[in-house]
Amino acid sequence: MSLYEEIGAERIAKILSLFYQRCFEDVMIGHFFFEKNHDELLKHQLAFTTAMLGGPSGYQGRALTNVHDPLPIRPPHFARRRMLLKETMEEDGLEKMLIDSWIGLEDKLKPLILKDQSSCRA
Ligand code: HEM
Repeated sequence: MSLYEEIGAERIAKILSLFYQRCFEDVMIGHFFFEKNHDELLKHQLAFTTAMLGGPSGYQGRALTNVHDPLPIRPPHFARRRMLLKETMEEDGLEKMLIDSWIGLEDKLKPLILKDQSSCRA
């Protein structure tokens, strides 16, 4: 059974919606999302995550590298987003095994999100 089936479409949508709300309001990473279309972002994120978790592949957003490349995202920003996602899942009562599997898949995408680390001393 896929993670998508184990967690369920409705629960994935609920978690992502709560998670993104946190990202938008967050003191550390909220500024990245200023002046972005939050509804579109959530829609693309949901389609992306659905496919990532083994559900239907209906993602029609841009490639992750193209989207994030112009943004000055550094490792602490990535870690902050990861923490907010984990907290949202925990508060929703998602099983630890499912949380770890979901987070594990996102962690693999890190090289696509972060800028070239050779130019960063952080
Ligand atoms: C594994 C981690 C991540 C995944 C899977 C992910 C996924 C996505 C997706 C699917 C989109 C929508 C693409 C589109 O609209 O065509 C997006 C956009 C965006 N992401 Fe991420 N993202 C991740 C990490 C981050 C981090 C760490 C930040 C900043 C702290 C960030 C900031 C943004 C912003 C600001 C946009 C909107 C860009 C724009 O519309 O110009 N993302 N992301």
